[in-house]
Amino acid sequence: MAKQIVVLISGSGSNLQAILDAIQAGRIEGQVSAVISNKAGVFGLERAETAGIVTEVIDHKAFDSREAFDIELASRIDACQPDLVVLAGFMRILTADFVRHYQGRLLNIHPSLLPKYKGLHTHQRALDAGDAEHGCTVHFVTEELDGGPLAVQGAVSIDADDSADSLQHKVHKVEHQIYPYTVELFCADRLAWSEHGVTLDGSPLPASGYRFEG
Ligand code: GAR
Repeated sequence: MAKQIVVLISGSGSNLQAILDAIQAGRIEGQVSAVISNKAGVFGLERAETAGIVTEVIDHKAFDSREAFDIELASRIDACQPDLVVLAGFMRILTADFVRHYQGRLLNIHPSLLPKYKGLHTHQRALDAGDAEHGCTVHFVTEELDGGPLAVQGAVSIDADDSADSLQHKVHKVEHQIYPYTVELFCADRLAWSEHGVTLDGSPLPASGYRFEG
């Protein structure tokens, strides 16, 4: 049966779009029941509306505390009874209670080859370090920021003429491949996070996750 997916965004929603396109193409056995943004007026909301998906805005600034925001967010998500919650450029640090509530069904994408470069400015940091390779990671979310077990990684080469902007562009392209692919695996019950770690088709993945090769 089609899995119910809730997507959380804060911005342009290009990863949301890639997931919607993969659903439209019949690759993902799932449907997006709602897109929730913590910011009004962002382009990702327009993308969702164009696809006929229910959208909600929950402005974090209207709440006194991180806890209060997360409680409201969780209650709106739970109203959709999702099998999977997808963080697609959702730029909020989540409370431990929230993360625990969705353990094993909460995915995030981060623009680096985790565990390298948690946090911000990942492209510049990869350049400054003189790395030959950079990329992006989809991981299950835990209480540790950008620290949960890795599901799928995609890499790009860093060339001599790359800037933070050109790298961001390259990485984005790979994000748009690996996020729909990860959601596809999850919805097909092929990817899971259990007491055996992250498994694909029942076999444990290495700590670096599944390496996506385009
Ligand atoms: C993506 O590059 C994603 O990796 C990053 O935000 C961007 C959202 O783009 N997420 C993080 O940095 C989370 N730590 P999008 O709104 O176009 O999908």
